Amino acid sequence: MSEGELRPLAAHRSGPLRGEALVPGDKSISHRALILGALCVGETRISGLLESEDVLNTAWAMRQFGAEVTEVAPGEWHVSGTGVGGWGEPSAELDFGNSGTGARLVMGAMATTPVSAVFTGDASLRRRPMRRVLEPLTKFGATYEAGEGGRMPLTLRGTDRPICIDHEVAVASAQVKSALLLAALGAPGQTRISQRALTRDHTERMLRAFGAEVSVELIDGGGECIGVTGEVELRPARIAVPRDPSSAAFPLVGALIVPGSDVSIPGVLLNARRIGLIETLLEMGADISIPNRRQSGGEEIGDLRVRHSDLCGGEVPPERAPSMIDEYPILAIAAANASGRTVMHGLEELRVKESDRLSAIVAGLRACGGQVEELQDGLVIHGCPGEMPGGATVATHMDHRIAMAFLIAGLASRTPIAVDDTSMIATSFPAFGTLMRSLGAEFS
Ligand code: S3P
Repeated sequence: MSEGELRPLAAHRSGPLRGEALVPGDKSISHRALILGALCVGETRISGLLESEDVLNTAWAMRQFGAEVTEVAPGEWHVSGTGVGGWGEPSAELDFGNSGTGARLVMGAMATTPVSAVFTGDASLRRRPMRRVLEPLTKFGATYEAGEGGRMPLTLRGTDRPICIDHEVAVASAQVKSALLLAALGAPGQTRISQRALTRDHTERMLRAFGAEVSVELIDGGGECIGVTGEVELRPARIAVPRDPSSAAFPLVGALIVPGSDVSIPGVLLNARRIGLIETLLEMGADISIPNRRQSGGEEIGDLRVRHSDLCGGEVPPERAPSMIDEYPILAIAAANASGRTVMHGLEELRVKESDRLSAIVAGLRACGGQVEELQDGLVIHGCPGEMPGGATVATHMDHRIAMAFLIAGLASRTPIAVDDTSMIATSFPAFGTLMRSLGAEFS
């Protein structure tokens, strides 16, 4: 579909949501599995890969660097890579579409190999800050030319003489940390990356699964320092991608706010650094049970059962933000359907996501008759359970999570809520509409 072709959709107040929601594979793990597969010689086998636009763009980029990437059955992918330091130069520019994760991780993975690549993306991605990754990559020896403010389109030149680095990542970003850990693979010696926030650790876990030497030490005052030994030969792995908690969040909150609902969501990733939304909703009084917690492919997973609940507002601890950074749009919808006030701080990073999510949430809630205060680093939402007036079309600003969040809001509002565009939902959750309808959601 060409950029600019809008696909609006309206959500109507719906009867109970019931049934099983099989949400797709985790987006973060899917990107990493393709990239690490392309960084080793031999065949990596991936099952449950998220086949969304963001991840398919990363698969395409891996082919450009010389990896063989094949879909052998739905969700089953094989990757035969060229090894650390073995990537060839892409013959075309790399278009990452809407995906900051794909773009930033691949920048890191190529920075310590002597190849150049042009990175670009859609209008949303071209607005997002890339200097936070590019600057530390220059410490390894890479060079770049970027647009105003370090933005895309940009050219990154990997170095033929990488050196290992000792670097503290100032922003609470798993993408930046991961890009540097991937760059470290090509640099002789041990690279040490520290970060005050405990951001998602899928790269560290998967690096170990591929045979890399990774050490993790806690640092004074919170945070951690991760060491990666470079110039390694990775060995191919088998990766079973668990279902994405960030996608599960939409049917989950839908079930909580639509009276009479009872939905199960099996096989969801429950990595401790990804479950901030579940912790917060439980504190708000949500009826969520998680029988059958188990280990799968080095990650904890479990089956969620969610029933309609009378939610109450509260304070969301700011230090929890990294473990639910993608979930604030849908948490805002839960808060608008909770009694009392929900206060959220520490959300500066939301301003540089696929959209300025703080502004997009505030504008959307106000358009729907919700009561919300915008803070520089957060939100205060005054809820009224089941009473959001609705009757508006919400601007999604090329942001899949804003689109899905307001469609869920419409299932419990007094009059329908429409979103101006659903096309971006395909970047992370292509079957969202079909799945929600199968549970009883009314979209038109
Ligand atoms: C991601 C990290 C998060 C998240 C993004 C996926 C990742 O971004 O918002 O959707 O896979 O590393 P930051 O940690 O960079 O904020």
